[in-house]
Amino acid sequence: MSFLELAQKRRSLRSYLPDPVEQEKLEYVLECARLAPSWKNLQCWRFIVVEDADLRQELTTAYAETNPGRKALLQAPLIVVLCGVPAESEVWEGKDYMMLDAGLAMEHLILAAAEQGLGTCWQGLFAEDKVREILKVPENVRVLAMTPLGYPAEERKPRPRKEMSQIVFKGTWGSGNA
Ligand SMILES: Cc1cc2nc3c(=O)[nH]c(=O)nc-3n(C[C@H](O)[C@H](O)[C@H](O)COP(=O)(O)O)c2cc1C
Repeated sequence: MSFLELAQKRRSLRSYLPDPVEQEKLEYVLECARLAPSWKNLQCWRFIVVEDADLRQELTTAYAETNPGRKALLQAPLIVVLCGVPAESEVWEGKDYMMLDAGLAMEHLILAAAEQGLGTCWQGLFAEDKVREILKVPENVRVLAMTPLGYPAEERKPRPRKEMSQIVFKGTWGSGNA
């Protein structure tokens, strides 16, 4: 599969089979995340892999009021929670590199999962304090996002994307297509 094919294959999936994820596949996607680039190679990310059904139920409940993807969380056999350690990154000229770095690592994981035939769905975190409590995450660590991880129970058509001319400029901002 080419990278373009992988990018086309990955979709945000919100319905999962209960089938377990093989340990080798879990290790594979985590290894792909581990190899992500980061600001000064500080690797601020941490991943919590949640398999325990009670914990997954608690996480799903914590999300229930605010997040439309909550059903997917409960269905999938695993939830991967993305955390960031601010002390292992920097805000430089007002730019928060922890968010970039952690996002990169998570996307490595998500693309690797797609390659392995597994589904994911980025979940923005709207219940950080509750999730922090459930998973015993220390105060000096941010809980940033999570994703279900499991075999998809649905296929989804691609969602629309902006035209190349809207997002790529040649030479200077706003100039003709690259
Ligand atoms: C940082 C981030 C946060 C997201 N948060 C949510 C979310 O909370 N709930 C949800 O259902 N989808 C969430 N998504 C998925 C987007 O809605 C999805 O990527 C977008 O609609 C494009 O669809 P696609 O991923 O299938 O191509 C999030 C995606 C990103 C990158």
